[in-house]
Formats: sequence, C-alpha cells, structure tokens
Amino acid sequence: MTEGTLHPFGEDIWLADGPVVAVAGFRYPTRMAVMRLPGGALFLWSPIGLSDGLRGAVAALGEVRHLVAPNTLHDRFLGEWQHAFPQATLHAPPGLAARHPDLRFGRDLADSPGFAWDGQIDQVEIPGNRIATELAFFHRPSRTLLFTDLIQHLPPSWFTGWRAIVARLDGMTAPEPRVPRKFRYAFSDRPAARAAMRRVLAWPAERLVIAHGPPIAHDAHAVVARAFRWLGV
Ligand SMILES: [Fe+2]
Repeated sequence: MTEGTLHPFGEDIWLADGPVVAVAGFRYPTRMAVMRLPGGALFLWSPIGLSDGLRGAVAALGEVRHLVAPNTLHDRFLGEWQHAFPQATLHAPPGLAARHPDLRFGRDLADSPGFAWDGQIDQVEIPGNRIATELAFFHRPSRTLLFTDLIQHLPPSWFTGWRAIVARLDGMTAPEPRVPRKFRYAFSDRPAARAAMRRVLAWPAERLVIAHGPPIAHDAHAVVARAFRWLGV
C-alpha cells in the first residue's frame, strides 16, 4: 500500500497507511480507517499523519465528522486533522481529552449508545489495562473488527538487533496476530477484560484491521479468538 493513499477494504470502509512513527525507541508502521455512514458523514479511526493528498482523498469520500482516537496512545495526529477539518468532532477514551487542552473534544468514547454512528459502528472498551485504555470497534456493513495496539502482527524483519529480540519475546512479531505480552501483563482486572472480550467475540467479524500489522480479509473472528485465548475467552 502506498503511503498516504486510500484503499477500499469493504463496503463503506477504506484504509490508509501512514508514516512510520517512533515510540520509546521502537519504530511502528501506522494505519487509519475511514468509514462512511449513511448520509455521507465520515468516521476516521486512528488518524495518521496528514498529507495534502490524503486530505483531498478523504474529503472526496464524504464529510469528515468524527475523528476517533481508539486508544489513549494514538493521539499524535488528532490536532492536524481537527485543524484541517474544524467542523469535525474529536472522540477519545476517558482521560485523553485532559491531556490535550488545546483541542476540542466531544463526548468521551464509551460502550453505551448515543453516538452519531449508533447502528453502524459498535464499540466496547477493553477495561483495566495499565498501558492504555483501548476500545474495539465493529463496522457492521463490512463486518470489520478494529483493534489498535492490543493485537499486533509485525513481520519478524521489522525490527533489527536487540529490538528484534525484545519484539519477538513480546509477541509483536509472532507468526499470527497476538496480544503483546506487555499488554497481557498490564490487565489489572482480567474478569472485566474477559467479559468485554466476550462481547467483542459476539460480533460476526469477518475482517480485521489492526494499527500495526496487515489487515485480514477473512476469518477475523477465529484469529481474534486465538489471540485472546490466554484470557480464557
Ligand atoms: Fe500503536
């Protein structure tokens, strides 16, 4: 996928890969998803670095209305998108808005209904993780499940030297999509996380989008169930 270009992934959903970002000395590829709601409003999941080309391509799909940080770590590019699309509303997990007093946020993301995308996109918070608060999303028309950092699948050659060893031990570069060990150990309330994941696995997911790893077009439900087997779901 060419960086900064949109590619259709299913009914009313497009993906774009962004520039590599560095987090704590590790390089990560980035990915965003654009979902079009009935009526033409766009829901942008995990916005990546904005370029003129991407801005025009997204605007051509509809009206950018919802800019969504799906976890408390993916907030780096929210400001440039809100600047480019000032009519859009930012939504983030509880706690993130307070870290960005310069940006204007709408209602915090939550499991409960009442969002403009109800009926098209569902979300469940996977609670109690000390590293990040993350919500899983499900786009009903395309049957796409979206995870941000809780599931990762980078190629073994992505990192080099000692970082490749750390990434392998952590499960970031396993043969299948996995929940990295650092995230597994960071769940403070496993029963609550398990209950949330049972709700996620009730969705009839066919496709899977993750921020750090290739998208999957088939059998997403089984892949995610295997990735969370350690949790007893
Ligand atoms: Fe990430």
